[in-house]
Amino acid sequence: MGWHIKNNELRIVKIDKVKIEAYNVKSIFFKDKLSSLAKPGQFLMAWIPGVDEIPLSVSFASDGLAAVTVKEVGEATRALNKMAEGSLIGIRGPFGSHFKIFGKRALVVGGGIGSAPLLLLINKLLRNSVKTLFIEGAKMHSEILFQDQLNLLRDEYDLEIVFTTDDGSYGVKGLVTDVAERYLSKRRFDSLYACGRESMIRKLFLLSEKYTVPMQASLERIMRCAIGICGSCVIGKYRVCRDGPVFDSKQLREINNEMGRFKRDFRGDKVPID
Ligand SMILES: Cc1cc2nc3c(=O)[nH]c(=O)nc-3n(C[C@H](O)[C@H](O)[C@H](O)COP(=O)(O)OP(=O)(O)OC[C@H]3O[C@@H](n4cnc5c(N)ncnc54)[C@H](O)[C@@H]3O)c2cc1C
Ligand code: FES
Repeated sequence: MGWHIKNNELRIVKIDKVKIEAYNVKSIFFKDKLSSLAKPGQFLMAWIPGVDEIPLSVSFASDGLAAVTVKEVGEATRALNKMAEGSLIGIRGPFGSHFKIFGKRALVVGGGIGSAPLLLLINKLLRNSVKTLFIEGAKMHSEILFQDQLNLLRDEYDLEIVFTTDDGSYGVKGLVTDVAERYLSKRRFDSLYACGRESMIRKLFLLSEKYTVPMQASLERIMRCAIGICGSCVIGKYRVCRDGPVFDSKQLREINNEMGRFKRDFRGDKVPID
């Protein structure tokens, strides 16, 4: 089991600080010992009183303080992002597998809100002296996340950063996967880390196989229990909440037929990903 029973206890926490990160995206900071011990890629279940409980990656974790970075896409995320400092939310977790550090040269690729768990990962890679290139893609400039924090890491640790936007309003114009391939074809990396839309992960997975770079990717499925019981997060033989959300190349090969092609809807039916 990748989690301890204590992690599954609901804790009520007070929102300490709210930070606007990008258009429709906020980071919500709160004090919680267990969340602050989360490893890069792990997630929490956040209960928004009277609305819903939703899975969110830990985007910041240090010294008893943690944060989630939330993009408004529906009722629960909108309600959470409206909450002010001092409001109360419920937290369970951290749950799931995490990104593992190995090798000396890493390529990290984030797409949109998929970059949420990657700042924690990048920090860990750099502190382990792994030379890191981060390619962050977004639809447009206003959706780029963590620019200030990334620039600080660039100055302090030599993090290499490439921003890409679909509309060319910032950084390199084009799809993050095309830019990633340019680097994969020119340079040798020991590991490829990715989080974002599943179509992006699917393309990166195929590239990782082509250029024989071991990959770890974080996947998303609808989650309810978060502890491997309800079955709402099934992909192939895995449950994303318990066996994932971070999967390695060997596991990604096993779910290659479903990844980026099918997901489960709220009723548990298998539906194509558009
Ligand atoms: C392991 C994991 C980590 C996540 N980390 C983050 C994060 O760090 N930040 C963040 O903003 N979001 C994250 N998500 C997605 C987040 O859980 C959903 O955006 C949220 O549940 C939507 O709830 P809602 O009530 O606002 O929207 P709903 O009204 O439930 O749905 C609105 C739209 O969002 C889509 N949606 C619903 N659930 C999900 C889901 N699980 N994944 C993707 N799309 C969904 C629906 O298809 C619909 O189109 C994560 C999901 C998982 C599984
Ligand atoms: S969310 Fe219930 S089994 Fe994964």
